[in-house]
This record gives sequence, C-alpha cells and structure tokens, in this order.
Amino acid sequence: MSSPFHLGWFLANSFGVHGWGQAWGGVTARDWAGPDLHIDLARGLERACFDFILLEDSLFVPDNYGASTRFYLERALRAPKNDPLPLVPLMAQATARIGLVPTLSTSFYPPFLLARLIATLDFLSHGRMGCNFVTSTAARAAQNFGLDAHIEHDTRYEMADEFVTLVRELWNSWDADAIVMDEERGVFADPDRVRAIDFKGRFHASRGPLNTARPPQGSPVLVQAGSSPQGRQFAAGHMDVVLAAYNSVADMKAFRADMRARLAARGRDPDRCKVMFVISPTLGETAAEAEARHQRRQQAKNDAPDLTLAAMASLTDIDFSQFDLDAPLEELTTNGQQGTLKLFLKQGRTLREVARNYRYGLEDLHGTPDQVAGRMDEIMQEVGGDGFMITGPLTRRYLAEIADGLTPALQKRGLTRRAYAHAHFRDNLMEF
Ligand SMILES: Cc1cc2nc3c(=O)[nH]c(=O)nc-3n(C[C@H](O)[C@H](O)[C@H](O)COP(=O)(O)O)c2cc1C
Repeated sequence: MSSPFHLGWFLANSFGVHGWGQAWGGVTARDWAGPDLHIDLARGLERACFDFILLEDSLFVPDNYGASTRFYLERALRAPKNDPLPLVPLMAQATARIGLVPTLSTSFYPPFLLARLIATLDFLSHGRMGCNFVTSTAARAAQNFGLDAHIEHDTRYEMADEFVTLVRELWNSWDADAIVMDEERGVFADPDRVRAIDFKGRFHASRGPLNTARPPQGSPVLVQAGSSPQGRQFAAGHMDVVLAAYNSVADMKAFRADMRARLAARGRDPDRCKVMFVISPTLGETAAEAEARHQRRQQAKNDAPDLTLAAMASLTDIDFSQFDLDAPLEELTTNGQQGTLKLFLKQGRTLREVARNYRYGLEDLHGTPDQVAGRMDEIMQEVGGDGFMITGPLTRRYLAEIADGLTPALQKRGLTRRAYAHAHFRDNLMEF
C-alpha cells in the first residue's frame, strides 16, 4: 500500500496573461487583468483537495533575448503581469481550505512589511497562508530597485537567510496568547506578552515588535525553490516546503536525499520539510489520444526553439540569440538562476538539442488519468516523497483535466486526500 502524497499547483506566469494564442484559451487572455480565472483555479483545486497554489512572480519586463523586449511583449511572456498579492484575498474569500502561497523577493521587499503583510493575510484567510521566498534573479529587476548590477548570487542567499530569520522573529514577537480581550480588566492585549526584537544583522535591522499579532498558524508556511548549494542550505535552515524541477526520477531522488541530509545536519526533522517536484502531465481519454497530444506538444517545442531559449534567457540573463544553434555549446555561467542553467545545459551538445530536450520538471508523463496516477505512484515510491507541483499552460480545460480527471484517479488509489482534515494549511501539509 503506497503512502499518500501532497499536491500543489505551480502557477507560472501568476497574475499575467494566460491562454494567449492557445487552443481552449477562450476569453482568458482577454480577461487577463481580472480575477476570475484565478478564482476558478482556486475553487477547482480545492474541489480536488490540493494542499496549495503557488503564485509565481517576477519584477521586470525581460529584454534578454535579442536585446529587446519585442519577443516577450508580442507573446505576453512575463509581461504584462499584475502584482499577485491583491489577488490572494479574493482567492481566499472564494475558498475555505486550500493554502495560498504568493511569491515575494528577499532582495527587494522590506522584511518588516513582508512579515506584516503575510501575517495579515493569514488572519484574513483563517490560517491558510504561505510565502515563496525568492532572491530575484534578474539584473533588470535589480535595476528597477535602483541598483546598477544585481547583488551577487551567494550574497543574495546570505541576505535571504537573515531576512527569513528576522521575519520569523517578528512573527514570534507576539505570544500566541497575547490577545486576552479581558473586558472586565479593560485589557485587549497583554503588554507582557509582546516584545521588541532589536534585530541587528549584516543586511537587515528591525526593532519590532510587529504591529499586528502573531499569525493564526504561528508561522505561515515557508517555501523556496533554489537548487544551488546555497539555495539548498537556505531551505535546510528555514523551509517547510522545497520545490524542485528535475527531469529525471534519479535526479529527483538524489535531490530529496540531499535535502533530507542537510535538514538532519541542521538538527531539523527531515519529515517537517516537504520536497515537491514539478510535473506537467498530458491527459487523454485513451492512451493513444494522450500520446498524440504529447507528441504535438513536443513537436511545437521542436518547431520553436526560440520560445524555450527566450524563456531561459529571462531566467539566466544570457542572450541565447547570440549563439549558433548548431555549434558545440560553450561553458556558460550566470549570476541568475544557477541550478536552472546547469540543468538546462545538461540536455545536449548544441543549443538546438538543448532546446528540444529541455523539460521543465517531468513533462513526459502522459496517458489516461488512471495511467498517469499509476505512474505518479511509482515515481513517488522511487523518490520517497513528498509530493508533486502540477504546472502547465493554464486554461480552464487543463484545470478540469487535472482537478476532475487526474485527481479522482489519484484519490481512488488512495494516493491523495479526499477531504481536508484540518483548518490550517500547515496542519494539512504536516498531516502525512
Ligand atoms: C517550482 C519553482 C518555482 C519558482 N518560482 C519562482 C518565482 O516565482 N519567482 C522567481 O523569481 N523565481 C522562482 N523560482 C526560481 C528559484 O527561486 C531559484 O531562483 C531557481 O530555482 C535557481 O536557484 P539557484 O540559483 O539556487 O540554483 C522558482 C523555481 C522553481 C523550481
């Protein structure tokens, strides 16, 4: 009997444009700036008992491919993109149990404001908030905040580590029982249970206490997705969830084993940090239909290597348009997403090969819902846990395929939950 695993949805391009130029997109691209698609997503995934939705974010208009914004703006790649934070309360209002995880930058957001914002949302959502901490990887993002060049990769992680330490201290600056609401004594909050923190680090300082109370979950759920050695150390120190996009089961297994060793070395219980892997299944009513859809998806990628290269350019600040597609690959380094670049370049000997072979997470899962559920079971048994982050070009059709096709097949096999056992996101996440 297999153990159950967790499900999250990785909403790439977040509160940006979905469905542009895509079959089954309907009105989604035209309505990009409204909340309806995201509310449908939250409701659909709650019906399927997902643990959480992660709302990706970035803070720049890319011009990394061909030294121009043209490629990106014409295709609505990464821009325009609204701030996902104001969407969160709307998604919370439309649901009751699913966890909500917006992305915030440790390089550009002030820690005090982040601690207060996420605590406030944790109250509004009755204990369903998480936060995806990213260091922000693009030089263009850094320039939007007044820097000429971005902070160096490893220093960004040192800053992130201190940032999260400070945020957690702010959440702890109020005891869980600080609000007494004692009408007879005329005391709302007990001053002895609220403290300054006087945090002074290398990069950040804050006196505290936080001016809202301790959030309902104590600590909202902490998430991150960096996979370089520095990213892994950052995760081992603080995180409740680590996300990774590997395209082989062997790499997934090795990553999870490495994370668990790092957690144990930091004196943490490895079971308290869930490692979740990106997959992007293609479903069909029959195996043949799924195979045909999968082949079409692969063919589209082969026909347009520039789409993959432009996306990768915006993650690594490397202009791949300057290279010959068929020349042997050069050694390339980045101050952007290092783990992502490493995985990317491993995929072939030339850029054309790399673009053709590159998969974001496990993309080649395809079949009927029951076949894919069976394969997910095998993968999880091989990897050891803890769950999957589903992603894919977001249309209402894809949402229904996952929420109403794949998930019931997983539930039938006892692999994912049929009902939420707890009110808080953290408790549901730590249940198994
Ligand atoms: C599933 C997943 C989601 C991510 N979401 C974001 C995001 O929303 N914003 C962002 O700037 N980076 C995001 N990243 C990038 C990571 O935060 C990180 O920069 C990247 O994995 C490279 O990390 P490294 O330099 O430690 O290897 C995501 C990565 C993964 C695998």
